[in-house]
Amino acid sequence: MTTSAANHCFRPGQIWPDDRGVPINAHGGGVLLHDGVYYWFGEHKIAGEAGNRAEVGVHVYSSPNLYQWRDEGIALAVSDEAGSPIEHGCILERPKVIFNAPTGKFVMWFHLEPKGAGYSGSLSGVAVADRVIGPYEFVRAFRPNAGVWPANVPAAEQRELEPEKLALLATMELGGGPRAYYPKHLLFRRDFAGGQMARDMTLFVDEDGLAYHIYASEGNGTLHISQLSADFLSPAGKYVRVLPGRFNEAPAWFKVGGRYYMVTSDCTGWSPNPARLLAADTIWGPWEELGNPCLGSAQQVATTFQAQSTFVLPLPGRRDAFIFMADRWNPRDAIDGRYVWLPVEFRHGVPMIGWQEEWNLEFFDKMI
Ligand code: GAL
Repeated sequence: MTTSAANHCFRPGQIWPDDRGVPINAHGGGVLLHDGVYYWFGEHKIAGEAGNRAEVGVHVYSSPNLYQWRDEGIALAVSDEAGSPIEHGCILERPKVIFNAPTGKFVMWFHLEPKGAGYSGSLSGVAVADRVIGPYEFVRAFRPNAGVWPANVPAAEQRELEPEKLALLATMELGGGPRAYYPKHLLFRRDFAGGQMARDMTLFVDEDGLAYHIYASEGNGTLHISQLSADFLSPAGKYVRVLPGRFNEAPAWFKVGGRYYMVTSDCTGWSPNPARLLAADTIWGPWEELGNPCLGSAQQVATTFQAQSTFVLPLPGRRDAFIFMADRWNPRDAIDGRYVWLPVEFRHGVPMIGWQEEWNLEFFDKMI
């Protein structure tokens, strides 16, 4: 496939070649705009089912225009050292990078599962670099907010679980998806001392410079929004639970005219499901569900265009111009997962997402 014509537009779901003609390898990604250049960070996946584990690391590409991407190499490499938290063969997903102006550092957060333990770790990994493309140095992996109660639970719920309730929970099969009984008032209390579970995640820097880590917690049943410290390297000690027991994951966050939004998905692993739009007037909520933002055929709406949200990219200098980024996973041949980038449209002020076979940024000139 040549790079010329194909690379002056977005073709959702099609192979997207980089500057050398190699398919872009940046899954579950996010984009950082820095000094007028876009940087796309994502999971480097290898072929086959082995690609569902991290064998290489986080790949980064740069672009002046969002269509053409230059391979800038591996920003964060997995480690060859046995026992390293990011040892190759671990699970390292949904990396996101933000810039901390006071320290001049680029800070990467990701979902990390230590090698060989499935998704039971539910850790957040942090890495840092002096240059946007890296190399990023691994700092630590941990469960966030150990010893901190969520800011939005009543005082009566701010107590650790009794041993008998802990024992009862230990007997329950609490996988990662919706189930008939979900102990939605118990899991954050169980995890108080050791830190909260953190799986699918994103980062957001607000206009006032404060940053937030948004992650699927409590066995994926409840999202947490957690403020970051001034250097963006740790939780600041304030977080809230969002829509407990609703099983939202794959959060992709954006802000329009002072209102906060998330596109999320249901929890069905690699299989696509209907997206959800969540909104709030303040970061801390209350958050409300506005329904499915996808427009199109029943099949497209039911599967989010056969994809799952990962990021919403605001375009600088344009009002209300956002690109919805999603992954069309291919767990049997992970490297062949595809990217679905679509423009966000506003219908009666509500952000919606419609299918485009092929489109470019002029789309936003037509919006009023
Ligand atoms: C999805 C999640 C992905 C990955 C996958 C594993 O629900 O969004 O990032 O964790 O499950 O099955």
